[in-house]
Amino acid sequence: MLMFELEKNSSKPLYEQLYRGMKDAIITKQIKVGTKLPSKRKLADFLNISQTTVEIAYGQLLAEGYIVSKPRVGFFVEEIDELPYIENKQLKKLNEAPLKATKTYRYDFHPGKIDAESFPFATWRKYAKDLFDASSKELLQVGEPQGEYDLRLEIANYLYQSRGIICNPEQIVIGSGTEHLLPMILRLLEMDSKFALENPGYSAIPRIHLQNKAIPISVDEDGLVVDELENTDANIVYITPSHQFPTGAVLSAARRTQLLNWASKQHDRFIIEDDYDSEFRYIGKPIPALQGMDQNGKVIYLSTFTKSLMPSLRVAYFVLPPTLLPSYQKIFSYYSATVPRFDQHILANFMKDGHFSKHLNRMRKIYRKKHDKLTNTLENNYPAIAITGDHAGMHILISVPLDESEQQLKQLADECGIAVYPVSDYLLKPIDYEMPTFLLGFGGFELDEIEPAIHQLMECWNIKAYKKKGNSQ
Ligand SMILES: Cc1ncc(COP(=O)(O)O)c(C=O)c1O
Repeated sequence: MLMFELEKNSSKPLYEQLYRGMKDAIITKQIKVGTKLPSKRKLADFLNISQTTVEIAYGQLLAEGYIVSKPRVGFFVEEIDELPYIENKQLKKLNEAPLKATKTYRYDFHPGKIDAESFPFATWRKYAKDLFDASSKELLQVGEPQGEYDLRLEIANYLYQSRGIICNPEQIVIGSGTEHLLPMILRLLEMDSKFALENPGYSAIPRIHLQNKAIPISVDEDGLVVDELENTDANIVYITPSHQFPTGAVLSAARRTQLLNWASKQHDRFIIEDDYDSEFRYIGKPIPALQGMDQNGKVIYLSTFTKSLMPSLRVAYFVLPPTLLPSYQKIFSYYSATVPRFDQHILANFMKDGHFSKHLNRMRKIYRKKHDKLTNTLENNYPAIAITGDHAGMHILISVPLDESEQQLKQLADECGIAVYPVSDYLLKPIDYEMPTFLLGFGGFELDEIEPAIHQLMECWNIKAYKKKGNSQ
């Protein structure tokens, strides 16, 4: 009789151990096709286990077709097709395939990092717990392609109150991140459109979506240079007007009007307004969205919960002008929403009960402190470093008076265990900056880590701290 080694103290139930052992023996032909298996009683006695355990294991093998039962005769091993059985050795090999190692840094200035210490886990858990209940069984079925109405309603309310946007939930489409919504917008705007992008700008757009065919438009301290756009044959422009990514410039009032006028001159001209990173302003009033000024249905507004809540939630949305809704419905009504319904409802309830606004207010204070710590450390100790884009968002730009290139300085920092992000990584067309320029994200740092991180970066770049007379620093 075949011997199966069963571990009585294992966390795996005995029936499962027996079932797996027999299944492996059948697959690897240790038990030949047509073999009669021992009766349940005999096997139970032999292995010193209960008959029920054997009965459940046989039942499972029977259900999966590894054995057949001949009434009053017994159980026999069935002929099975060759299965693509991947042995553990093979799995090991797959795992050993060269995976791109993600390096961990002592300090990482990535602009996309958020504060992970202040997330309201308890509140979020309560909403999740309430929803994962039989009373929400309807949410097990597939939801609306545009996203759950409840969440779209909350987003419309939030946009009205915080961003000056007037829209109704029917205009909103929810999806799992900006990078998944952008291809939808591009498809909606016809493939033969000509796209203009900010330079520098959000690098995923040209790289992922436009195969680098977009027209780069310069950015200065007033945001996108609209005069330059007017001299191209582009009919779609992608822009981050409230907080230009990555320079932090705000599109001036004059340029806003000029841009909206540009769009209104031709029926196929549209503006994609990405409001990424606009929730956190540290000086002055929030900048209202361009969409709120648009009288002609020319702005497709796009935003995300990546910075305001967490990047891993993967919830972003766009607001379509009413004229584009019929095309959207024609092309996309067969696509399911890409965000799980439960996640959408947790977020909707969180917003409805005022927790989102509360969270934003709290985070604004936290990020302001981190921002001030970063800029003060730089200004007080390294006055030769120029800081820009420091009114909003979760990163600033620094320009350092050094002769090395940005890539050489990035490499030097890397060797010191510090990750920095050169502005040249965000360029569609090269720009000759006077000094090497870097994005320094501060969102992911603990407040008291910021100062030592800056000092270590500067030490690594051999930039000496400025010593005031009588100051022992
Ligand atoms: C301008 C801009 N928009 C959007 C995103 C990403 O948003 P999401 O996390 O929703 O894909 C980024 C990320 O760096 C960005 O720079």
